[in-house]
Amino acid sequence: MKQLQKDEAPLDAECRKDFPALHQEVHGQPLVYLDNAASSQQPVSVIETVSRYHRRDHANVHRGVHTLSHRATEAYEGARDKIQAFINAASRREIVLTSGTTESVNLVAQSYCRPRLAAGDKVLITHLEHHANIVPWQLVCEQTGAELVVAPINDRGELVDGALEQLIDDDVRFIAISQVSNALGTILPVKDIIASAKARGIPVLLDGAQAVPHMQVDVQDLDCDFFAFSGHKMFGPTGVGVLYGRESLLESMPPYQGGGDMILEVSFDGTTYNDLPYKFEAGTPNISGVIGLGAAIDYLQSVGMDRIAKHEKQLLDYMMRRLGEIDGIRLIGTAAEKASVQSFMVDDIHPHDLGTILDHQGVAIRTGHHCAMPVMDFFGVPGTARASLALYNNTDDVDRLVTAIDKARQIFS
Ligand SMILES: Cc1ncc(COP(=O)(O)O)c(C=O)c1O
Repeated sequence: MKQLQKDEAPLDAECRKDFPALHQEVHGQPLVYLDNAASSQQPVSVIETVSRYHRRDHANVHRGVHTLSHRATEAYEGARDKIQAFINAASRREIVLTSGTTESVNLVAQSYCRPRLAAGDKVLITHLEHHANIVPWQLVCEQTGAELVVAPINDRGELVDGALEQLIDDDVRFIAISQVSNALGTILPVKDIIASAKARGIPVLLDGAQAVPHMQVDVQDLDCDFFAFSGHKMFGPTGVGVLYGRESLLESMPPYQGGGDMILEVSFDGTTYNDLPYKFEAGTPNISGVIGLGAAIDYLQSVGMDRIAKHEKQLLDYMMRRLGEIDGIRLIGTAAEKASVQSFMVDDIHPHDLGTILDHQGVAIRTGHHCAMPVMDFFGVPGTARASLALYNNTDDVDRLVTAIDKARQIFS
């Protein structure tokens, strides 16, 4: 792929106007927002869709006979259809609406795995996982006596070639891996891993939180059994997310929580559960969040996932090149296949100090362990500075980042 030159990023020019939050000053400087892996900004279309729901259509879903409830239900269920199409799920019954990736992973751990695991069984993850794809498995292993096995990584932040496949033995009952690492941006070879798992009949969950905003996802093509993601990293609202589950597996699982909406009939003699996907959606959901997520998907599709992936790949190459030119910088995470994220350390400046100095220059990055402490331990650092890109970022943003880092180095020299 050709290298991106300065001022050659047409996608951001088209998109920036759609994001009001980008057009502000922070500490007297125009904002450069490079914390998209934590939460991305929202386009006007999402903000207005949510606002319209609150102004006109606010009511509970699935329950009312009145017009507002019909409108709310239509918009809510319409968003489910958009999500189904967005990830190419075979059926809307496979789209469970949750509060985010974290809840989606916990749901699978507790409802699919817990009844199936026993002492001697293994759950396989990787060293690259976010805590949301570690701790739920530690919990279910503690509850069942199963063992958590971790596939190793190398100095570039890639899975060690073939090591995960070697760990797949007859005791492995479940595999849970991220598609893209949030701390390093590494793209994992998930299709190969899924193929190896399938050959042994082992179900696979993909944590797609860092994949969906950046690349086309097709769960049927991936052939994964579960796929989890969050709205707030893909230009949608917070507190809403998705669990895709293969229909036959979801059918076989008990409800995760009990309450309203997940039942067909309740008596003191017993309860019959609702059909998919409602069996897993107890209580009043985050209606405005789901509707906003639908609008975020409309936005992503109107821009085009292939264009987004191409723009971000070129910009990441540019950012890695520019950061690499800074004296005293250590790039952490240099995998051959990467998406949109670069972690780094500068001299011996603590990442929090660096983040604070950058903030005073209007540049927002993330500092800390990024909810991936095992990754930090592997690289022997308490945390890193992390710049993460979205479709609206451009070479000027990267140049401002580099200038701000130079200033921090002067302050600490
Ligand atoms: C790879 C990955 N998985 C899971 C999560 C958790 O997402 P949420 O907090 O939206 O549940 C994140 C959030 O940073 C993430 O990056």
